[in-house]
Amino acid sequence: MTDWTDGYVADIDYTFGYYSELNPLRLRLAFLNRGLHFPEVGTACELGFGQGMSVNLHAAASIVQWFGTDFNPAHTQFARQLAAVSGTNTELFDQSFAEFCSRTDLPNFDYIALHGVWSWISDENRAVIVDFLQRKLKAGGVVYVSYNTQPGWAAMMPMRDLLADHADIMGSQGQGIVSRFDSALQFAEQLLATKPNYSRDNPLIPERLEKLKGHSHRYLVHEYFNRNWQPLSFSRTAGLLSAAKLNFACSAQKPCRIFVPINRFAVIIGSKALSD
Ligand SMILES: C[S@@+](CC[C@H](N)C(=O)[O-])C[C@H]1O[C@@H](n2cnc3c(N)ncnc32)[C@H](O)[C@@H]1O
Repeated sequence: MTDWTDGYVADIDYTFGYYSELNPLRLRLAFLNRGLHFPEVGTACELGFGQGMSVNLHAAASIVQWFGTDFNPAHTQFARQLAAVSGTNTELFDQSFAEFCSRTDLPNFDYIALHGVWSWISDENRAVIVDFLQRKLKAGGVVYVSYNTQPGWAAMMPMRDLLADHADIMGSQGQGIVSRFDSALQFAEQLLATKPNYSRDNPLIPERLEKLKGHSHRYLVHEYFNRNWQPLSFSRTAGLLSAAKLNFACSAQKPCRIFVPINRFAVIIGSKALSD
């Protein structure tokens, strides 16, 4: 049997979060703040929409025609229910990026968003997405991409490997993914209690580990237990996206905020046709 998940977690569904940064109406403000023109958005697409809270709220609160895909059928079913009750004509699919991006019946898009996806997929899937952006984003269109970046996540990389390896090696399928995560976390805490050089050199790590306990397992498992987890530097991401003729436009964080968290650096990439 082929594994449709491609190493992405499907044992537990994702959280029900709404992310206003993805809203094209809000992004207009970020663009104006930088003196950039934001296009009129008639068609938009969200790749990996999760439970579909954002795509549905954005569709319900505008006249934009939204499309999207998320290969987890439980996610897509919930997202479609939301679309049905809100009465929008949003087109949501449960296809993989490879399947969805090769469809021939999609329009070209003014705006394409991917939130919490870029760092958690394989190089092959990133290439599929870049090709899609290159073919399907209109000239002057905008792409929103958020990802785990470096240096913010650099110190956490060995810890993530430890957690994932512990679950793989010491856990069993029958144990369930939540219990495997808890066991891995407990092991990591025991390890840090021995005060290894790693935690002395990276004093924020024990604090970060402690904070994990405040998150839901839905979030934690999707954040740390995918086969692929690659915090990419800004320059690497910008380099990959340049193949789709995309340039960095501005941060999607609140324009008035001077301090932006570097571990979740959100960028909007606008096409080359954008002018100052
Ligand atoms: C971390 S979640 C983010 C969900 C949503 N964007 C949000 O921020 O709430 C990543 C989503 O991408 C989907 N996904 C991962 N790999 C995929 C693939 N190859 N094709 C389609 N969907 C994929 C997962 O099912 C998951 O719902």
